[in-house]
Amino acid sequence: MQRRIFLNGSMNINGNTARLTNQVFRDLEYTPIHLTEFHINQIRPDSDQQDDFQKVMNQLILADHIVIGTPVYWSSMSGYLKTFIDRFADALEAPLAGKRVYLLIQGTAPEDAIPFITNVISHLCRRFHMKYKGLATNSNEASKLHDLMVNEK
Ligand SMILES: Cc1cc2nc3c(=O)[nH]c(=O)nc-3n(C[C@H](O)[C@H](O)[C@H](O)COP(=O)(O)O)c2cc1C
Repeated sequence: MQRRIFLNGSMNINGNTARLTNQVFRDLEYTPIHLTEFHINQIRPDSDQQDDFQKVMNQLILADHIVIGTPVYWSSMSGYLKTFIDRFADALEAPLAGKRVYLLIQGTAPEDAIPFITNVISHLCRRFHMKYKGLATNSNEASKLHDLMVNEK
């Protein structure tokens, strides 16, 4: 039984980012994690923080497939997602190796943001030995990610 997570970096839980995600999962079961519903502190020097970071990280640790979705805000990923990713520096030993990661970028004209966001997610995958499977910014590409996901063991 494969476990699938949607990590939603949008402020809208049923917005365009979530809609594109539905085209990746289709009828596959998955658990959405809307970062807007969790309290994640900005990274600080004292890493022992009382917030929801570890709760969300625990969900990722249980997953086989992680779809990371972000809208483009000002030519970048959303602050919700960046804040969460910065905190991975507090969890450098997290057992994430081998997880399949799929990236969704949703914007009205996302081209300038795509290289930056893709680079950050690829960097994160390399550091944690996760397998970066690809990017979708539209329905056609989302369908291709769906096919990749169902063909993964
Ligand atoms: C604060 C803000 C900044 C935005 N900046 C950009 C941008 O620089 N480039 C772009 O293509 N879209 C930009 N957009 C549009 C959103 O990326 C787009 O509407 C996206 O589909 C929203 O996804 P959502 O429905 O999941 O929130 C911006 C939207 C907001 C709210």
